[in-house]
Amino acid sequence: MIIREFRPDDLKRVFEIENMSFDNSYGIEMFKGLYEMGTGFLVAEDNGYVIGYVLFWIKYETQGHIISIAVDKNYRRLKAGTRLLSKAIQVLMNFDIGSIYLEVNENNKEAYEFYKEFNFKVDRIVPNYYENNEGAIVMYLPFTRSDL
Ligand SMILES: CC(C)(COP(=O)(O)OP(=O)(O)OC[C@H]1O[C@@H](n2cnc3c(N)ncnc32)[C@H](O)[C@@H]1OP(=O)(O)O)[C@@H](O)C(=O)NCCC(=O)NCCS
Repeated sequence: MIIREFRPDDLKRVFEIENMSFDNSYGIEMFKGLYEMGTGFLVAEDNGYVIGYVLFWIKYETQGHIISIAVDKNYRRLKAGTRLLSKAIQVLMNFDIGSIYLEVNENNKEAYEFYKEFNFKVDRIVPNYYENNEGAIVMYLPFTRSDL
């Protein structure tokens, strides 16, 4: 398995993975738009087949933000998510930021456990964050310059 930069010809496959992973999709145009804006966009590839992706950026100039991460259902628990998130964190840490934030659906226990493994902490709960009125847990990974 390798982690590499997203390429436009990965778009269809990334969208397929997103669709099987979330009830509410960002939509293919949103992915295209984020890529064109220069957002951090990595994919995990297994024998030439894209099995997962992560999208991330810097918000408010000082805050890393994980926009979306997902792994194909048939390839979960094989550490593709770990490899993707580790690389995204590594890239973000090269910038002058103090923390990395993300939102996770309050009912998404799998992802919550996954982020806890990375030492993400709970910041707050935002009720009715998602379209279907489910709440979000905002989590953050603090770090200091000495972590770099
Ligand atoms: C969350 C997600 C990206 C994890 O990807 P993954 O490649 O399966 O995760 P990894 O194999 O790297 O798991 C690393 C660790 O996270 C934890 N973890 C991952 N999936 C878990 C699950 N279903 N239940 C409990 N813990 C889990 C475990 O501690 C795991 O280590 P272990 O397998 O040695 O026990 C994947 O489940 C996914 O795509 N989910 C749907 C989309 C999603 O919810 N994205 C996050 C939105 S906020």
